[in-house]
Amino acid sequence: MRNIFNLNNHWLFKDSFSPEDVQACDSSEYQQINLPHIVKELPYNCFGQTECAMCSTYLKRLRLPEEYRGKHSILEFNGVMAQYQLYVNGQFVQSHKGGYSRSRVEVSSYLHSGENTILLMVDSHEDKDIPPFGKPIDFLTYGGIYRDVNLILTDTAWMEDVLFRYALEENAVVLKPEIHFDNAGEAFDGEMIVLLKGEDGVCAKQYSRTVTIPSGRQILSPEPEKMAAPALWDIDHPYLYTVEMRLIKDGVEMDEVEFKTGFRTIACRPEGFYLNGRQVKLVGLNRHQDYPYVGYAMPKRVQQRDAQILYSELHVNTVRTSHYIQSEDFIAECDKLGLLVVSEIPGWGVIGGDEFKRVSHQDIRDMITVQYNHPSIFIWSIRINESDDCDEFYAESNAIAKGLDPDRPTTGVRCITGSKLLEDVYTFNDFIHFNHLLRNDKEVVLQAQQAVTGLQYKVPYLVSEFCGHIYPTRPTDGVQRQTQHALIHASVQGKSLERKDAMGAIGWCAFDYHTHGDNGSGDKICYHGVMSAFRTPKYAAHFYRSQVDPKTEIVLEPATLLARGEPDDGMVIPFVVFTNCDYIEVELYGKNIGRFYPSLNYGGLKHPPVIVDNNPGTWRDTWLAGTVIGFIGGKEVARRTYSPDAYLQDLEVRPDDLELHTTVTDATRIVCRFCDQLGNALPLYNGILQIETAGDVAVIGPTTVATVGGSIAFWVKTIPSAQTGEATVTITAANTNIPAKIVRLALSPDPMTQTLD
Ligand code: GAL
Repeated sequence: MRNIFNLNNHWLFKDSFSPEDVQACDSSEYQQINLPHIVKELPYNCFGQTECAMCSTYLKRLRLPEEYRGKHSILEFNGVMAQYQLYVNGQFVQSHKGGYSRSRVEVSSYLHSGENTILLMVDSHEDKDIPPFGKPIDFLTYGGIYRDVNLILTDTAWMEDVLFRYALEENAVVLKPEIHFDNAGEAFDGEMIVLLKGEDGVCAKQYSRTVTIPSGRQILSPEPEKMAAPALWDIDHPYLYTVEMRLIKDGVEMDEVEFKTGFRTIACRPEGFYLNGRQVKLVGLNRHQDYPYVGYAMPKRVQQRDAQILYSELHVNTVRTSHYIQSEDFIAECDKLGLLVVSEIPGWGVIGGDEFKRVSHQDIRDMITVQYNHPSIFIWSIRINESDDCDEFYAESNAIAKGLDPDRPTTGVRCITGSKLLEDVYTFNDFIHFNHLLRNDKEVVLQAQQAVTGLQYKVPYLVSEFCGHIYPTRPTDGVQRQTQHALIHASVQGKSLERKDAMGAIGWCAFDYHTHGDNGSGDKICYHGVMSAFRTPKYAAHFYRSQVDPKTEIVLEPATLLARGEPDDGMVIPFVVFTNCDYIEVELYGKNIGRFYPSLNYGGLKHPPVIVDNNPGTWRDTWLAGTVIGFIGGKEVARRTYSPDAYLQDLEVRPDDLELHTTVTDATRIVCRFCDQLGNALPLYNGILQIETAGDVAVIGPTTVATVGGSIAFWVKTIPSAQTGEATVTITAANTNIPAKIVRLALSPDPMTQTLD
């Protein structure tokens, strides 16, 4: 039997370490914390870039009940930035380098029943021997134990990892699971039962195999089995099977494992990307796992929400995990939603020495072993992002990836042209449209494939970044800049969609993120997101959202304040509307100024922006603001009305969730937006919000915040207590008559998570 206990709760932490701490712990020096955790909470911006660089100590007192004594015991760390040394009961056990990889440590002989001490020295300095470090990188990595820690207790033999290999045939799938056994006891003959349940929970297939399990670590692939008529995983219907595997010895269950997976075919060809034989153009965004105040330290629900935002609000079909291995919770949500993933190893611009290369190769092994069963991942990105060629190193990287996963393509993201292609797909960060901006030349929105690869023939090709640093755009920027930012994304995606020799384009990037002084806007933020760091939309987000089929959602987002004195020369015209309507009509100066259709200048976009360019009035006319009306099939389907006398009327408060768990720290976001009497945003209003909580929740970050461009979000987290009850969050808009808003959160334990508190 396998027991997995989550150890996120009740740690002691101090922001220093000395070797004496290993033997003697003076609890008064420590502060009580729960995971996920950052070594130092930061302000939203304008902080020092080395504030999280330290050696710190994390200490957990673990009471192991007698019934688990003698069990095979493994500590699992899913993300500790950037390296750690582990001591159990005062004895050094193991060290680990790499802040994004899962590490497992066998601690059976170190643990005893009763109280045990688990101590980690966590070193969060940027160490040139660990990817992505080596030069100032364009993101921050923070520090601390920022993902789950688990204690896995098993019998002597357990299935450490299962790579559920398969081959699709005509109306059947051949199941070929590869099991990575770890057997601390003698060799034995056992039975392996494999069961697949469909989405309805009904058993779709069950079979068993006799397996001989030798002592020690061994990889076994029992005889394959055919399953008829499998449902396929696709972006339109991401069908997932639940796989349960049991290891039986002498009629008794020794171990079991459960996970989800899906079956699909993928092919990357010079003419494009194919999923289940159908060509799919990739329209995507890059994601950093970065949040205000706590950096990377956000729990499962918040990771899942990012996938939901990308899929349901931005309506992209692809995400790249730039530039590192991201949380299992994020990837599992991509599986569930049908969001394709480019999964990438840590790295940024520089290849270090031998130790760096060793860790990088280990990262590839960890990434593929841990993420193998996720159908959403269609390619492994195994170069150090934007590094120079280094054939010997990358030949080995490819050999490692292909050894673990011969079926998925590999790639490596380049910014250099003519790079040696050792992978299946040439992936390129194309910022050529910087010239396009200067010259306003639509033809150089993206470079031609062979001009980039330097090859005589076409290869599978993907644009992995564009826009980003060539047009940083803050949520507080004016209409013109935000519109131009959105139009760059529209031009490039439009061009990419009409190209016959590219799989698609992945824009830089989804969310603003924190960075070093070398790269950001001087305040430690890179404003490259189509959304803010709070995941609130800029106009570029409206562009992506507007590409959805109106059957899913009708989008009508005018990129204007419709305030005549705001743009240059009192000209509210031209303005752009991001919409998936067939056409729009606009009323200005009290009259209908005409019908406007999607622009023809945006390549293959399904729903190009609409440019409103017919100016009927002048500075001296009475300004009546106006109305934008969207039509589909000749019928009005959406309308946005603006007042010539907009004033602050309300604070709109939208929580992402109303139910949270208390077994371990859970969190949700609450989005606050000031609006006028017609419900329109007021991006120029600088409001102050005061946040108070009651019950077992706490605000992440400051409890008094200023809006950024008229809106802001904050996250509240539960305080682990395993209680059922209610918590409230009260938000007051300072210096206004707006009544305080109260969000009620229902709290309950999570039946899926077991702790050992
Ligand atoms: C790329 C890099 C990204 C980011 C981006 C900004 O060169 O790969 O990490 O820095 O530029 O545009």
